[in-house]
Amino acid sequence: MIRRADSKSKLPQWSPADKYYVRKKSFKVAKHSRIRGRPLVLIIIVFSISLLFSLYSFLPYREPNFKSRFKKFPSDSNIVYYDLADSRATASGWTASTEERVLICIPLRDASDHLPLLFSHLRNISYPHSLIDLSFLVSDSEDNTLAVLTQLLEDIQGDSIPDLHYNRADIFEKDFGQIVGQGFSDRHGFAAQGPRRKLMGRARNWLLSAALRPEHSWVYWRDADIEISPQSILEDLMLHDKDVVTPNIWRPLPEWLGGEQREQPYDLNAWQESDAGLDLAKSLPEDAVIVEGYAEYATWRPHLAYSRSTEGDIHEEVDLDGVGGVSILVKADVFRSGAHFPGFAFMNHAETEGFGKMARRMGYRVVGLPNYVIWHVFEASVDDISKQPKKGGAKRRMMTRKEKAAKEAEQEAQEVEFQIPQVPPQNEQHASAERDSPKTTSA
Ligand SMILES: *[C@@H]1O[C@H](CO)[C@@H](O)[C@H](O)[C@H]1NC(C)=O
Repeated sequence: MIRRADSKSKLPQWSPADKYYVRKKSFKVAKHSRIRGRPLVLIIIVFSISLLFSLYSFLPYREPNFKSRFKKFPSDSNIVYYDLADSRATASGWTASTEERVLICIPLRDASDHLPLLFSHLRNISYPHSLIDLSFLVSDSEDNTLAVLTQLLEDIQGDSIPDLHYNRADIFEKDFGQIVGQGFSDRHGFAAQGPRRKLMGRARNWLLSAALRPEHSWVYWRDADIEISPQSILEDLMLHDKDVVTPNIWRPLPEWLGGEQREQPYDLNAWQESDAGLDLAKSLPEDAVIVEGYAEYATWRPHLAYSRSTEGDIHEEVDLDGVGGVSILVKADVFRSGAHFPGFAFMNHAETEGFGKMARRMGYRVVGLPNYVIWHVFEASVDDISKQPKKGGAKRRMMTRKEKAAKEAEQEAQEVEFQIPQVPPQNEQHASAERDSPKTTSA
């Protein structure tokens, strides 16, 4: 059974009107109040109060006054006081009464081809953009990632639709001297994994430590190369109210590779620990990094990706020990308390898998959503391409003109048919919660 994080009554009763979000004191109308004798007055008062409330909900979205959450010195002072006891991350952070701020961290490397798609997603994110800070790390790029990124950021931050503007955007650049290329096979070959994952862990930590501010309630890690992801992904993940939560990541397959099977698990870094995995760790040197999804390290771990059931509840949760970095929502306090992406072997794991292990070890809840799927872009690996049917070849006889036409028609039909599977519909809970959320329009 999954715990539904829906009950609004569980939210603290903060009043935005109180400058420092003091808890409201309840008060009672005195028993022998003079008002009791005057029903008309009472009705008028009740009516005007309810009118005010209904007007309030029609008001345009207010720019959040972040500073009000923290007691502060006079505005001309250069001293700022933060009460970190106020730091909170709830199941519905986007409402006017919570206004929880999200830091989106996006590591980039030779990513200029994917950036237009990434920004199309960013424009569509339904969580109020004014509550979101974007932070990018550009590292070891030989293409024009930085220039394209800067241009796309200028476009969105200067857009004529104010709702599209993010509260803040930071670009950090630092090279980590990656020793392997960025091609699919370079990145996915076994030998490169250990050193590569350690460097990636370091890169994530540099990005996080540069970008995390006391105002942030949540940190969302996102890869640039996502094809399909719901606009409400932040709210959807947040509703689970878990310390660390990640969706299931698949990729579509073209017909020449998958045949009937037009989709495939992509991220094998999200898993539950197994006895074989623990035994393997014991047999390895302390500094060795186990990476999941390679025959060289048979761990027999259950993967989040393979736990998917197309008819299953999209809210279903499973506990995880390792997580992948494609899309993770984390309560910021998890990082504040010291969890990070190990740039060394931590319990024989590094980067995001090490982060999952570490968060678990610190007592945090780490969950994956087997039936909530987002889609990675399809990139053909050398292995994929080797499965591609050869063109021409000695065995093949020339086709007659008629056969050729038929074949072309067939190919055309297939092209039309090839559609990336759709994401599941949004849940009702979210739909109702969304009413509190300002519309972030996408033109
Ligand atoms: C963003 O929304 C627009 C309009 O609905 C849509 O055309 C576009 O494909 C969306 N972008 C992504 C990346 O889903």
